[in-house]
Amino acid sequence: MFNFFKRKGSGLRIGDTAPDFEAETTQGKIKFHEWLGDSYALLFSHPKDFTPVCSTELSRTAALKPEFDKRNTKIMGLSVDSVGDHATWETDIGDVAKHFNGAALNFPLIADNDKKVAQLYGMIHPGELDNLTIRSVFIIAPDKKIKLIMTYPASTGRNFLEILRALDSIQLTAKHKVATPVDWKQGDDCIIVPNLSDDDAKSLFPNGWNTLKSYLRLVPDPSKK
Ligand code: BEZ
Repeated sequence: MFNFFKRKGSGLRIGDTAPDFEAETTQGKIKFHEWLGDSYALLFSHPKDFTPVCSTELSRTAALKPEFDKRNTKIMGLSVDSVGDHATWETDIGDVAKHFNGAALNFPLIADNDKKVAQLYGMIHPGELDNLTIRSVFIIAPDKKIKLIMTYPASTGRNFLEILRALDSIQLTAKHKVATPVDWKQGDDCIIVPNLSDDDAKSLFPNGWNTLKSYLRLVPDPSKK
């Protein structure tokens, strides 16, 4: 039998409803969907407390929290250790923050020592790390649908500016009939979605567009009107 027939995992995909859970965190017990309310969420996992890369990531994300707040996005981290370990680690995270353009922890960190949430979200990849989580990222919308999944190995710290950039694209494309091109950032030109005919596009984009190909029509970022 091939391995992939035996493989277990959450199998979560973009467009699925993010599973609800109740968990102990550094800010008390949280029911995920209730905590999410009408916000977007960034849910991301770390292999273990007191590990170097994780400490840098958590402090950097804390420094970027005002940017996530501006985007109506709550942040929740996860590590497979206890609330007590998290509390001790929190001090270390604050201590190293200045070296990584970071800040002291200012969002809840799930104490997933029984790995319930990690398993629910498929954050454990035994081929990469035995029994610990890898670096999973989920962006979840207010309707509780998963909008983005990213998976990084334990040895590679993530770029949270890229996560903000992707969040900007997700929030823009939820409101306007556009997609965003390679390396797009807020204010850059966007692409009219391919399934919108030129006739229908005329009413949404009365100032017209720049046609590079019949299927590649550029318009100014519609959120900057
Ligand atoms: C880290 O966070 O530094 C780390 C954790 C597990 C494996 C490699 C690095």
